[in-house]
This record gives sequence, structure tokens and C-alpha cells, in this order.
Amino acid sequence: MPTFAILAFVRWVHFAAAMILFGSSLFPFYAPTGRFLDRPLRRIVIGAGVVGLITGLLWVMFLLIQLVGDSEGGSTLEELTAFFLDTSFGPTWIAHLALFALALLVGVTLRRNSWTARPQAFGLAAVAAGVLVSQAFIGHAAAAMGSPLPGPAVHAIHLLASGAWIGGLVPLGLVLLGARRAGDAHSLGRGRDALRRFSTMGMLAVGLIILSGVNNALSRIDSPESLVATDYGRVLLTKVALFVLMVALAAINRFALLPRLSGRACGSVALDSLIRMIAAEEVVGMLILAAVAILGMLAPPL
Ligand code: HEM
Repeated sequence: MPTFAILAFVRWVHFAAAMILFGSSLFPFYAPTGRFLDRPLRRIVIGAGVVGLITGLLWVMFLLIQLVGDSEGGSTLEELTAFFLDTSFGPTWIAHLALFALALLVGVTLRRNSWTARPQAFGLAAVAAGVLVSQAFIGHAAAAMGSPLPGPAVHAIHLLASGAWIGGLVPLGLVLLGARRAGDAHSLGRGRDALRRFSTMGMLAVGLIILSGVNNALSRIDSPESLVATDYGRVLLTKVALFVLMVALAAINRFALLPRLSGRACGSVALDSLIRMIAAEEVVGMLILAAVAILGMLAPPL
């Protein structure tokens, strides 16, 4: 029987892969950087596709073991067929894993150095969005009744908005690292422009995350007391506290460090601080996903 920790770890890495896949493939649409990101983004897409597929299959295997009790009994093929075809969530899992496999396939077929301006880029972003939307129909959200707005649909917005933010920080970091390495005015300008555009997208994402997060919470929390009296409530509070910290880091980047990026001299100092702060923002984002990985395994009060 997989331990709680092992399953939580697999869920965590799976969420991170899905978010980085979507956030990275969406980035060129609102922060075009010419061909600068083509190669590294292609590697990220392929990497996220492979990790997402492996952890998705592991997650299904662990669910199957939990459902069947131990892997010794009965033929695994029969149990897998029953899992995928005779359960309410089986077909959703088929769609979710198939979309991850498709994203990987698209990633592998992308041309190395000029894909972000081509139709495949749209296809990839759409498939990556499909991976997150299908995720919204797995787990608690699929059973979420009683929320003001339809549970899974709002949850899909929650995952897309948080994926755009957490996943988009990776290519943003690459653009700023590239500007630091090149050190010329053109790269610095590209970095400044990418951060400004990312922050605008980020503000929209934060708004959507709060609205959909509160909707999610209202369908799972029955009273303010259970926020502190239950494991689920305490993990959710921890997640919201990390979210507030992440918003604070993003605000410092946008309103304190970005304005200091103009001018070559102080630009490189501000750039170094920015790169460190973007890395810190991503670390907090990954901690939020760790809380989420645990949250989905705890019974909500409602
Ligand atoms: C960057 C910030 C955030 C990220 C990355 C994030 C990510 C996620 C993810 C991936 C899930 C899906 C879990 C699953 O399907 O098993 C989720 C669920 C949820 N989120 Fe968020 N979220 C964020 C912020 C928030 C905020 C601010 C709130 C509350 C106001 C919130 C409330 C919830 C709730 C209640 C659930 C349902 C958990 C469950 O029972 O499965 N989230 N979130």
C-alpha cells in the first residue's frame, strides 16, 4: 500500500508538471520574445510531458492498489480495464493521460528554433490547457456540490489561472537570466518588457485564483471553526498564507524592482535581485502545490 507521503509526492510532482507545461506554453502569447525561448521552452515542454505522464501512471497505479487492496489479487489487466472503464472517474483519467501524451508528442515534433510563432504553439497551449481542465474533473472537485458556482468548471479556472502564474515563472526566469548573461540594452529591454507583460497577466490570474479559490472553499468548508479544527482546514489555511506571501513577492517584483531595471548600471544589480525574487516566488508556488497535493487527500469537512 503506498504511504500517504509517497502518494502526496507523486501528486505534487504531477501538479507541478501540468502547471509548468501550461504556463510555459502560454507565455509566448502574452510575452513574445522572438526566438530566444524556442529551444529552452521545447525542452521544458518535453520534460514536463514525460514527468507528467510517468507520475500520472504512478498515481493511477496507487489508486488502483488502494481500490483493489493489493496487486497480487486478480489479473492487473482486468483491474486496469475495470478502473478505466467501469468507474465514474476512469474515462476522465484516460482523457487526462492521453492529453499529457499528446502534449509530449507535440513537444517532440516542435521545430527546435522557430516554433513559438507557428500554429503548433496554439495547439500545444490548447492541449496543455486540456491537461489542467481534465485535472479539474479528478479529485474532490468532481464531487463538489453546494458551491455558489458549478464546482468543476470553476475549479478548471482555478487550475488554469494558477498554472499560468506558477508555470509562467519558469520562462520568465529564463528571459531574465538570458538578459543577465547577455548584459546588452536589447536583452535588458526584452526582460523588462516580459516582466511587465507577465505582471499584467499575473494580476488577472491572482483575481481569478481568489474568486475560484473562495468558491472551492465554500463547497468544502462548513464553518469558520473547521478551518482551524480540521486537518483539511489547517492545510487550506497554510496554503492561503503561502498564497499571500507569493502575491507579496510578486508585488515587490512589479512595483519595486521593475522600475529600477532602467539604466545599464543599476539594471544589472536590480536584475540580480529580480532573478532571485522570481526564484523565491516559484519556490513558494511549489510549496503551495505541496499543500494542494496533501489537501486533495484529506477529507473536507463538508
Ligand atoms: C497560487 C495559488 C494557488 C494554487 C497554485 C492553487 C492550486 C490548486 C490546485 C492544483 C488544486 C487542485 C487540487 C486537486 O484537484 O486535488 C486546488 C484546489 C483548491 N484550492 Fe487552490 N490554489 C491556489 C490558491 C488558492 C486560494 C487563494 C484558495 C482559497 C481562497 C484556494 C482554495 C482551494 C480549494 C478549497 C481547493 C480544493 C481542494 C480539494 O479539496 O481538492 N486555492 N488549488
